[in-house]
Amino acid sequence: MSNKSITRHDARYEEMFSVEKEVAHAGGTLIDDLYPKLATMRRAGAIHRGDLEETLTRKPNGQFVFGRPHYTTLTFDTGSKALMDNTTYSSEHYQEMAGVMMSIGHTILTMVGQEHGRYRSAIQPVMTREQAMGWWTEKWITPFVVQLVDDIAAQDAKATDLSLALCARLPMHTVTAAYGLTSEEALDFRDSLLTSMSPQLSTEQRKAAVAKVRGVLLAAVAERRRERRDDLISRLIDSPFKDEAGNASSLSDDDILSFSRLLLLAGGGTTFRQMGILLFALLSNRDQLEDLRADRSLMQGAIEESLRWECTDPLFHRLATKDSVLGGVDIPKGSIIDVCLGAGNRDPERWENPDQYDLRRPEKRHLGFAAGPHTCLGRFVASAEMTTAVNALLDRFPNLRLDDRAPQPARIIGALQARGVNHLRVRFD
Ligand code: HEM
Repeated sequence: MSNKSITRHDARYEEMFSVEKEVAHAGGTLIDDLYPKLATMRRAGAIHRGDLEETLTRKPNGQFVFGRPHYTTLTFDTGSKALMDNTTYSSEHYQEMAGVMMSIGHTILTMVGQEHGRYRSAIQPVMTREQAMGWWTEKWITPFVVQLVDDIAAQDAKATDLSLALCARLPMHTVTAAYGLTSEEALDFRDSLLTSMSPQLSTEQRKAAVAKVRGVLLAAVAERRRERRDDLISRLIDSPFKDEAGNASSLSDDDILSFSRLLLLAGGGTTFRQMGILLFALLSNRDQLEDLRADRSLMQGAIEESLRWECTDPLFHRLATKDSVLGGVDIPKGSIIDVCLGAGNRDPERWENPDQYDLRRPEKRHLGFAAGPHTCLGRFVASAEMTTAVNALLDRFPNLRLDDRAPQPARIIGALQARGVNHLRVRFD
């Protein structure tokens, strides 16, 4: 499969794939020194009584429709418990987050219990490790990586910004192509999807974007109902699904629509930012980059460690459905739990030197892809993308390094909802 349009210059990449703009768009505030601040809070206790966003930014958190007391988890154990027990700490809170509901609707992210299980198992078969290494990698990821890396190698200046040239393009084009949309449509589509979620824009602007996304997706679903192709829409149409009574059924157009919006949104932005973080970690730890070049069996450790060290989405929420005790603190029914994955991932009780990136760390579960019933469904696909991209860079560019002539050094910036690199300018002459 070849599609030259994925390497074409388009100013929208800079607009849509900038951590700074993404945070501003979502109404968030950039936070410097996030991890030292979290460490100071953790020293005061495993649970902070308060809203993490408000505590760190000193600005009101406008994400929730109803004002509720917040409790923040700051250790691995408390974060892990909150995510594992989805009955006591429920994902229903998303229904109180207006932006999420308008753009994605009711989907597995917001479901709990049996309903969540029934829907999640309808899509699980296409998201397994085997499918990620097979169908996803062979049909979509590898051809895109080859094209993108060829394009980088052809740059006369022997320099590029990998964040835009590779990290932004690969995940978005992979997920939209696998879904069944063309690379030409991918940017338009992502633009509408992001617009539909932005609290900065008027309700009319957001509704117009929601309607546009709905129109494109429903037309694609109708077309596949008439004639199947080798893509995700067709697989969703045919996926085995059980209704509430346990009878064999199939996903409705609206079910497919919600799944699609979630997959296209989750699949594009997170992997873009995490891939940038991984490459930044390797390029700024040259000895580890060279170890990886020499021994590719270290790749999985390198990826997992990037998610532990600096996960791109350090904060998720849950709603307490009953009175409970977490980390020794009473949590009243109706509270919001701010599950800080980032703080849990740097818990010194669990990891030695938690602030260091170390790809040789012994394997241990982290919270970068969350935990429990809602553990990221796309984690194997994201890993396959990062593996293929990093392998190709290591094979092709023996002298790949951060560009010391860049106006500002590359670094990790962001907020609690989105973190990533400011840029990834490299040279490879
Ligand atoms: C490195 C990249 C990624 C990271 C760090 C990431 C992170 C996460 C996290 C933390 C959650 C849990 C949300 C919650 O518990 O409320 C999640 C859920 C999810 N992710 Fe990812 N994700 C990534 C890539 C992807 C990709 C590539 C896809 C799809 C192609 C995807 C699809 C999903 C879906 C469908 C869910 C909802 C699962 C459920 O509610 O059962 N993610 N992701």
